[in-house]
Amino acid sequence: MDGAVLVTGGNSGIGLECARALAKAGRHVLIASRNLAASQAAARALGSQVEALELDLGSLASVRAFARDLVSRGVPLQTLVCNAGLQFSQGPRLTVDGFESTFAVNHLGHFLLVNLLLESLARQAPARIVVVASGVHDPAMRTGMPRPAIGDWDTLAATGGATPGAFNGRLAYVNSKLCNVWFSYELQRRLEAAGFASRVTVNGWEPGLVPGSGLARDYPLPLRLIWDWLLPAVALGASRFWPSIHTASQSGGDLARMVQDPALDKVSGHYFPSHSRWREARSSDESYDVERARALWQASARMTRLAPGESPL
Ligand SMILES: NC(=O)c1ccc[n+]([C@@H]2O[C@H](COP(=O)([O-])OP(=O)(O)OC[C@H]3O[C@@H](n4cnc5c(N)ncnc54)[C@H](OP(=O)(O)O)[C@@H]3O)[C@@H](O)[C@H]2O)c1
Repeated sequence: MDGAVLVTGGNSGIGLECARALAKAGRHVLIASRNLAASQAAARALGSQVEALELDLGSLASVRAFARDLVSRGVPLQTLVCNAGLQFSQGPRLTVDGFESTFAVNHLGHFLLVNLLLESLARQAPARIVVVASGVHDPAMRTGMPRPAIGDWDTLAATGGATPGAFNGRLAYVNSKLCNVWFSYELQRRLEAAGFASRVTVNGWEPGLVPGSGLARDYPLPLRLIWDWLLPAVALGASRFWPSIHTASQSGGDLARMVQDPALDKVSGHYFPSHSRWREARSSDESYDVERARALWQASARMTRLAPGESPL
């Protein structure tokens, strides 16, 4: 594989470490997020084959402009790593398009991006899409986060949850991560149906608990101190015994393996969680609900105003 790899959110945390591992392996890496200056600094530190681009997944116009630019430049895109993500303690914060930001950035923006870049990816076959989910979507993992609670899609898009007018940042995050898994399974089914499955694969992946990343930037100060300083030290020593806690470099390294490993060439529609040391394993029972996954796809296509000519699926 020698085409370009796009890592959304590649200027920080797990995405940055994934980009570092890929650059070390000689891949052409594009890192894309909102903070262009931070991405440029990261790209400079990672080496000349890393390029920084500006992308706001919370803006449908930004996603469309970004995809248009990549396609018109003829970038030979072979892998898309849907890694960017965030969570909030207060909200709902709405995007320019009026969607709750956790849902919009973690799911909706990536939904649109993947659809707009599918034809480009298919031209560089064998191509891969890796969707970064989280173990918090699965109540059986006992992560201490709330169980997913998703009612109708418009309430989810407005609040991140199931109750009109209410906001719970942890629930919005958990729900968005269930959407990531539904999206990757439904994408696989649609690739199959459209005759793309031999050219493009998609898998879900989850990094485990990776303290020290930017994910806690909106937490209250005491929690941020624990996340930024205490837990990373624990992760350094604990990951050997406890497979669900890792440093960003360990998780990012495995995410890079999802991009590179030839053994995964034909593997699609599966889930690779940290608790199984990133071997294929089951995601939550609810994530296999085909009807809900299809309905999420249809709602996402409506919300992003995905036109028939914009996606082959
Ligand atoms: N850390 C964990 O314990 C953990 C556990 C399970 C899953 N995850 C998942 O792992 C992924 C990476 O998270 P991380 O922990 O590495 O956090 P991070 O260090 O905060 O990285 C998140 C990245 O997303 C980018 N981003 C945020 N909003 C964006 C937007 N609107 N448009 C484009 N890019 C945006 C950020 O860059 P800008 O600010 O420049 O936009 C940043 O590069 C996320 O999907 C997260 O849900 C993390």
